[in-house]
Amino acid sequence: MRIGEMETDAFAALAPMAGVADNTFRALCRRWGAAYTVTELISAKAVTLGDRKSHELLSVTDGERPVGIQLFGSDPATVAAAARAALAHRPAFLDINMGCPAPKVAASGGGALLMKEPARAAEIVRATVAAVDCPVTVKMRTGWDADSINAVELAKRCEDAGAAAVTLHARTRAQMYAPPADWRMIAAVKRAVSIPVIGNGDIIDAASAARMYEETDCDFVMVGRAAMGAPWIFAQINALIGEGRILPDPPVSRRMLILYEQAKDTVAAKGERVAMQEMRKHAAWYMRGLRGAAGFRRRCGELSAVDDLEALIADVCKENGENGV
Ligand SMILES: Cc1cc2nc3c(=O)[nH]c(=O)nc-3n(C[C@H](O)[C@H](O)[C@H](O)COP(=O)(O)O)c2cc1C
Repeated sequence: MRIGEMETDAFAALAPMAGVADNTFRALCRRWGAAYTVTELISAKAVTLGDRKSHELLSVTDGERPVGIQLFGSDPATVAAAARAALAHRPAFLDINMGCPAPKVAASGGGALLMKEPARAAEIVRATVAAVDCPVTVKMRTGWDADSINAVELAKRCEDAGAAAVTLHARTRAQMYAPPADWRMIAAVKRAVSIPVIGNGDIIDAASAARMYEETDCDFVMVGRAAMGAPWIFAQINALIGEGRILPDPPVSRRMLILYEQAKDTVAAKGERVAMQEMRKHAAWYMRGLRGAAGFRRRCGELSAVDDLEALIADVCKENGENGV
């Protein structure tokens, strides 16, 4: 499968997730077999204004490649200019966000609001394609709300404007993240365009990923929340779709080792104080399904040093019948 020059045998990409899928987590998911990764969404306007935080978000490390840099914005010239600036980080592609429901993003006229303005959305794609020499992709929802489902129309317009692939999070903006995703829309978009289509929404395990892949004929599946605290899901999806093989979850001690590895890498990237604050939520996700999970999750919320995490991991392994790291 390929998007532009990017070629891979893997089936599942890591979804962009602001505040979750940072450089460290993206690299971890690549090591577990993610086909590619996408940065957290970044304001095109802030990039063009030289905002320090936004420029930090643009940075990518080699371990997370192939990686797409995701921008949001509503002004074609601004998105194109930010895309040009992003090229310094050598992304495999540039992705334009047309799905984010957050008020802060919608207030900029970007994100899911572009679903209401297909002509402007296409203009943004056209201007960006003209500005850069790498593929430009789009991530969208099925529509603004149930009365304005227009992903097929928008995907066709984006293809005409030069988009190299379309990712569909199969929910409307009004649905946010809750009601079941409508995978039939992924199949409909796939039938309507000839560029690769990436299906997204409600993959909870390898079996559901394989089901989406078959039912929709999408080129890649994209996994968001199910990868939190479970980066091995990519190996499980690759084994199931590629070889029909079911890979069990790693044993608890291995899972704790993976959590520890993520924490150490995050500390190296951001320093212990910031890293351990950010690791609180990640650590809690790793506790899913464990004996004593409720109590361990509470302790995750109090982590402030690597030492705390080591003690927690030792107790998790003891409670779950295995040795610590
Ligand atoms: C915490 C969080 C942050 C997200 N941030 C982004 C983002 O920056 N850009 C984007 O396109 N989608 C973002 N999303 C949406 C996901 O990429 C994905 O479309 C959505 O979660 C549905 O997939 P899932 O059911 O596999 O989680 C975010 C989702 C979550 C839960």
